[in-house]
Amino acid sequence: MRSVLDTTQPIGVMAAMPEEIAAIDRALTDRCVETRGLREYHTGRLFGREVVLVMARVGKVAAASTATHLLCEFGVGGIVMTGVAGGVGDATHVGDVVIASETVQHDLDASPLFPRFEAPLLGVSRFEAWPDDVDRAAQAARRFLAEDLTGALGAERLAALGVAGPRVHTGLVATVDRFITATDEAAAIRELLPDALAVEMEGAAVAQVCHEHGGGALIIRAISDRADDHATDAFTRSLPEIASVYSAGILRRLFAG
Ligand code: ADE
Repeated sequence: MRSVLDTTQPIGVMAAMPEEIAAIDRALTDRCVETRGLREYHTGRLFGREVVLVMARVGKVAAASTATHLLCEFGVGGIVMTGVAGGVGDATHVGDVVIASETVQHDLDASPLFPRFEAPLLGVSRFEAWPDDVDRAAQAARRFLAEDLTGALGAERLAALGVAGPRVHTGLVATVDRFITATDEAAAIRELLPDALAVEMEGAAVAQVCHEHGGGALIIRAISDRADDHATDAFTRSLPEIASVYSAGILRRLFAG
């Protein structure tokens, strides 16, 4: 079965924001930096794996450009995108982890020329992750939550951030073109895509680029907020702590076992 983790090539590792990549960056060894398109690509070793690590910046264009460089210039065999997301599923709470088994561009609508959500002339609406990657990432995330999280953040901090009994979910992640900060906006997304677990701003773009180039895309997100009226506060509180600690901790479990 195919897996990004079984590639003999380096693995691309990307996140959108500095807070999401900080702890991963600190763990990178044997570093060599090259600049392309206003981004720094850091080749090196991460938890025993050869990787190319890059901060993509926010949004689908930034993510697609970065993913294309990773695949075409740096020769990665697949891409792991990590960071935070807003929970829109009934059961996705702050501090949970969502692994995308599929991604969709929520805002893409070229109807009536093409079905809503379909990437025109590609014939794909939902980009599916490789099942083996999803299983292995879910296992890594479960181990991180059960064995590492409390030690990393402390029970008091977790309680203050509203993280209680965090869980791992696999399913649909919707990639949106704006930060969702209203309860009625989140409800509208749920109505349009009832099986969506989370919203973020890059995943489906990375998945489309990987689909077009034949590489795997593995999207791993920690829930920072509920994409509701309190999302800005929750996101601002969670980002510095949850984003970095979760991303590095899950990748450590994923790469090093
Ligand atoms: N990433 C994290 N939270 C988000 C939200 N509420 N909307 C869009 N992207 C997000």
